[in-house]
Amino acid sequence: MIKVFSQNHAYGIEIGRGLLSSLGRYCSRLSVGKDAFIVTNARVKRAYGGICALSLKEAGFTVSFCLVGDSEKSKSLAVCGKVLERLAGFDRGKRPFIVALGGGVVGDLAGFCAAVYKRGIPYVQVPTTLLAQVDSSIGGKTAVDLKAGKNLAGAFYPPRLVVTDVELLASLPRRQLVSGMAEVVKYGVISDPGLFRRLEADSSKILAGGLKELEYCVERCARIKAAIVSRDEREEKGLRTILNFGHTVGHAVEAASCYSGITHGEAISIGMACACSLSVRLGLLDGANAARVENALRLYGLPVMAGNTLTPRLIIEPLFRDKKFKGKNRFVLLRDIGRPVIVDDVSPELIREVVRARIRS
Ligand SMILES: NC(=O)c1ccc[n+]([C@@H]2O[C@H](COP(=O)([O-])OP(=O)(O)OC[C@H]3O[C@@H](n4cnc5c(N)ncnc54)[C@H](O)[C@@H]3O)[C@@H](O)[C@H]2O)c1
Ligand SMILES: [Zn+2]
Repeated sequence: MIKVFSQNHAYGIEIGRGLLSSLGRYCSRLSVGKDAFIVTNARVKRAYGGICALSLKEAGFTVSFCLVGDSEKSKSLAVCGKVLERLAGFDRGKRPFIVALGGGVVGDLAGFCAAVYKRGIPYVQVPTTLLAQVDSSIGGKTAVDLKAGKNLAGAFYPPRLVVTDVELLASLPRRQLVSGMAEVVKYGVISDPGLFRRLEADSSKILAGGLKELEYCVERCARIKAAIVSRDEREEKGLRTILNFGHTVGHAVEAASCYSGITHGEAISIGMACACSLSVRLGLLDGANAARVENALRLYGLPVMAGNTLTPRLIIEPLFRDKKFKGKNRFVLLRDIGRPVIVDDVSPELIREVVRARIRS
């Protein structure tokens, strides 16, 4: 078990194969409540709802499902309101806790509902996408989107437990797996040269869904994220900032594409390629290492160039609105694989030049 420390409470991340059928047993070791309110979507319920509910019932919990739509649109105040009303209806003389069974969308929404219902009830994350297993289920950031931007209404509210069953990745569409691999490459690049070398060596096994290799990746990444958020939960000490490698330009690419047609992982892959180019141009990183990062991204079929429907202006304007850009032209750059550095005041001309070179002509 990996332990995460937070201002609220410490919690564990259990990682392995076939763990979903032990979910009830894990929950019964905690004092989370007696009545499980499972937030999920129809696709995930079809595949895993049965095992999840059976495991909870066998451990003595009552179970109710709450289905939300399968898209980012579910991360809204409107859907949050519906979930809370359903939860209030379920919660008559009960001791409810939430089980977030799904990817990052379900995890962020269900976590936010848990944070605000009765000023906070326990919840358990059961991440089912690679992105959720290596990233969104850990660290307690919960949120819904507003018209003005993504994740604008949120709370730091850690789960009581994360149960990560890598077998659930077997049913993930390839594009989602590849998208999650962008985050895995990010962890290797910012903090784990050993993981990075394994990613270079094992791409065909990983892309074929090799569970042994995927479990290694998930476990390494979860450890890295757990260590970082345990020391800087609220992004106050600059440590959590390094997780943003590739995300400054990545978020801008997503915004420029109006969050459709490109996955988060594909966008941050382009962002990581830009961050490497900036690092080389600023004399921080040598060209050979930048090429290694680019090559690793390509091995997983991730893009390093943006499509030509994007213009430099479309990408650069949202960049200057990014809430993490902080008006200081702040970037997480690289000195070496495993050695990130935060750099302020990167010149807008250089940013423009690097972004322009990353748009396919
Ligand atoms: N809280 C955080 O720290 C944090 C960090 C990163 C991202 N996020 C958020 O995560 C969200 C993206 O999450 P995501 O990439 O997991 O997308 P997602 O939740 O939309 O899931 C992607 C797709 O995969 C399907 N799916 C999920 N599990 C499956 C499985 N095992 N088999 C088959 N299909 C499955 C889903 O139904 C969906 O269609 C964004 O809203 C982002 O803002 C949050
Ligand atoms: Zn990300």
